[in-house]
Amino acid sequence: MIITFRQSLQNDIYDIINIQYESFNEDSVADLTADLLKDDTAEPRISLLAFDGDKPIGHILFTKATIENGDDNTLMHILAPLAVLPEYQNKGIGGMLIKAGLRRLKEIGSKVVFVLGHITYYPKHGFINDAGNLGYPAPYPIPEAVKDAWMVMPLTSEGLINKGKVICAKAMDSPEHWVE
Ligand SMILES: CC(C)(COP(=O)(O)OP(=O)(O)OC[C@H]1O[C@@H](n2cnc3c(N)ncnc32)[C@H](O)[C@@H]1OP(=O)(O)O)[C@@H](O)C(=O)NCCC(=O)NCCS
Repeated sequence: MIITFRQSLQNDIYDIINIQYESFNEDSVADLTADLLKDDTAEPRISLLAFDGDKPIGHILFTKATIENGDDNTLMHILAPLAVLPEYQNKGIGGMLIKAGLRRLKEIGSKVVFVLGHITYYPKHGFINDAGNLGYPAPYPIPEAVKDAWMVMPLTSEGLINKGKVICAKAMDSPEHWVE
């Protein structure tokens, strides 16, 4: 199996939605992805597809984040969503998508990246649990019991800069998208 990656194009939308739907087995993440892909406030966006041959099998999306009353010149991103087709899971493809995405983020000058997700999965790829405790409250409150699920990673040697409450793209700016 040879896996390749590339930035998604406008006409990849149906493949992307299909991957989200098959992986999460429900509509809401697929709908959110479609909305984020046409949301101007999410730009600059990194949207990568993974392929087995010419078959799209995984997708990762990073959308722009800002800090409330913070320095707008510091580029930051939120990872959401990440999905790999069920039959391709546990083969390292999710990890490869994260790695490829982080590389692209660094190339465009992003300084800090956040994710709300599995508390043991993302730390394997450099994320630090409980970003709230590190000075970055999430756009909507994360319950104490799952506070480790809101994570952060610095992308440069400057470390965790421009701290404050994180503001997400408009399409994600609603409490139902902030439940772990
Ligand atoms: C989560 C997901 C993206 C991981 O992709 P993947 O290609 O299967 O992951 P990798 O092969 O890179 O890594 C596999 C590891 O992730 C772990 N993992 C998979 N799903 C997990 C979960 N829900 N919680 C914690 N760990 C998980 C596996 O146990 C495995 O651990 P190991 O390396 O210690 O054996 C994929 O399983 C998926 O699409 N799941 C459904 C959608 C989803 O939950 N997306 C993430 C939203 S935060």
